[in-house]
Amino acid sequence: MPLSHADVVGTLRAAGCVFAEDEADLLVAEASTPAELAAMVDRRAAGTPLEYVLGWAAFRGLRIAIEPGVFVPRRRTEALVAEAAVRTRPGSIVVDLCCGSGALGAALAAEAGPVELHAADVDPAAVACARRNVPGRVYEGDLYDALPGGLRGRVATLLANVPYVPTGEVALLPAEARDHEARVSLDGGADGLEVLRRVSAGAAAWLAPGGALYAETSERQAAEAAAVFASDGLDPEVVTDDELGATIVIGTRPA
Ligand SMILES: C[S@@+](CC[C@H](N)C(=O)[O-])C[C@H]1O[C@@H](n2cnc3c(N)ncnc32)[C@H](O)[C@@H]1O
Repeated sequence: MPLSHADVVGTLRAAGCVFAEDEADLLVAEASTPAELAAMVDRRAAGTPLEYVLGWAAFRGLRIAIEPGVFVPRRRTEALVAEAAVRTRPGSIVVDLCCGSGALGAALAAEAGPVELHAADVDPAAVACARRNVPGRVYEGDLYDALPGGLRGRVATLLANVPYVPTGEVALLPAEARDHEARVSLDGGADGLEVLRRVSAGAAAWLAPGGALYAETSERQAAEAAAVFASDGLDPEVVTDDELGATIVIGTRPA
């Protein structure tokens, strides 16, 4: 017998889904057949993150395609895009480094007017996923090595939501992240800032004068990240968004 909406809510609630009603609405709307709905509910009840079951995540009003293992863009990261959108002029060159699904660049492009968007990631699964979402070029490779050399010194906005969980804390993440998202998307090395240090070290060479690097950190990492940016020749600024629980560290290349 086909599952009713109430059946779906009951199954999700029994599996411990806190937002069972909302999730049931989404699953019922997404499934095209009763069999598909039953399979989706089974996967969700078994602990697969909702976004992998749906095949998309909501991010700043966009539907971002999500594929297995690719980092699910977090609601708090919308604050980073909001900061960048205020300062990004139409026609600018925007780079989304460590782009994952490409959500940040896609959202910024939708909000800042036409921009020249480039995105890159080291994980082939993320690159394939980003190619479905990014209205621009997507490259595969290690940080700046992936980018065309012609962008050096011309980037107005450098988005970099890099992995920043300290290695020793990856095991403490919720199972949805720990068991389903690629380790390379989470692990930021001993203090969580190893990838961000490498991004910061290269930023001044890739940014245009007056251009800025936007990174997310935990609250406790922000002061160290700002100090790293300053030692790499960037003017640092820490912005917090209490509602979203976000900490953003911005580093501007002096004009
Ligand atoms: C925390 S996820 C963020 C993804 C995306 N920016 C977002 O906010 O949804 C970090 C991403 O960095 C990528 N990554 C990790 N190390 C990298 C490296 N050395 N070069 C390029 N990308 C890297 C991972 O594959 C992952 O997609």
